[in-house]
Amino acid sequence: MQDETNLPGAPKHRARRILIGLIVLGLLGVGGYVLTHQSKKGPHQPATASTTPPAFNKKQYSLDKSSSIWVVVNKGRALAPIDYAPTNLMAPNVPLRLPKTDPEMQMNADAAHALESLFAAAQADGLKFKLSSGYRSYKEQIALFSQYAAQQGQASANRESAHAGHSEHQTGLAADVAPADGRCVVQQCFANTAEGKWLVINAATFGFVIRYQAGKENVTGYEYEPWHIRFVGQALASELKKTGQTMEEFFSLPAIPLDS
Ligand code: DAL
Ligand code: ZN
Repeated sequence: MQDETNLPGAPKHRARRILIGLIVLGLLGVGGYVLTHQSKKGPHQPATASTTPPAFNKKQYSLDKSSSIWVVVNKGRALAPIDYAPTNLMAPNVPLRLPKTDPEMQMNADAAHALESLFAAAQADGLKFKLSSGYRSYKEQIALFSQYAAQQGQASANRESAHAGHSEHQTGLAADVAPADGRCVVQQCFANTAEGKWLVINAATFGFVIRYQAGKENVTGYEYEPWHIRFVGQALASELKKTGQTMEEFFSLPAIPLDS
């Protein structure tokens, strides 16, 4: 048996291996120090990203101008002029309750396009909606309120129907939507349909809010209307959905009692 320490050159090889080992350890040590310190306070590192989202700008659009997508119209806030009519009305390309030439099947153009996207997304999920009522003129709203009042009395009508000049429908930004097959049209039971439940989850993605919420009757001034959606744009709709607030609450406007 040969003793390898006795092989020619063996001590030299061992010394070289030790030297290389020391150099490698030294390099690892220096590299580790540099990496650790650069990641903490290196001059070329970007500042740590803030996790606080910027505050929502509540002044992006007017709350008073009748043509604004954020206009707040309720029993205490009239449109100006009182017989205001939008100039950019169009019939959305969706299933309609009435012929598309009927003004009630028209909407503000931005809201109309958003409604088309919303209905298309619902259809992709197997649900078919129709537009029951969109724009209603000042005169149309007078006739509708009178009809409600004649049928059920003034006080009851006042909980469900706006006076002319005070309806979101007159802005062209509101839509009453219904299942295309005619179930629960403009009825509370709409909330329990697949379409009604889908709307709660998805309306904000397309810029709509369910304007008259259950439990907020003494803020909005109206009974729960799960079918009445109002276009406000995606940013505000998402914010209102997230906070669970009405437009009145979000913008610190006076609450409207149901029986006012
Ligand atoms: N039904 C809602 C309140 C309107 O008449 O505009
Ligand atoms: Zn409505």
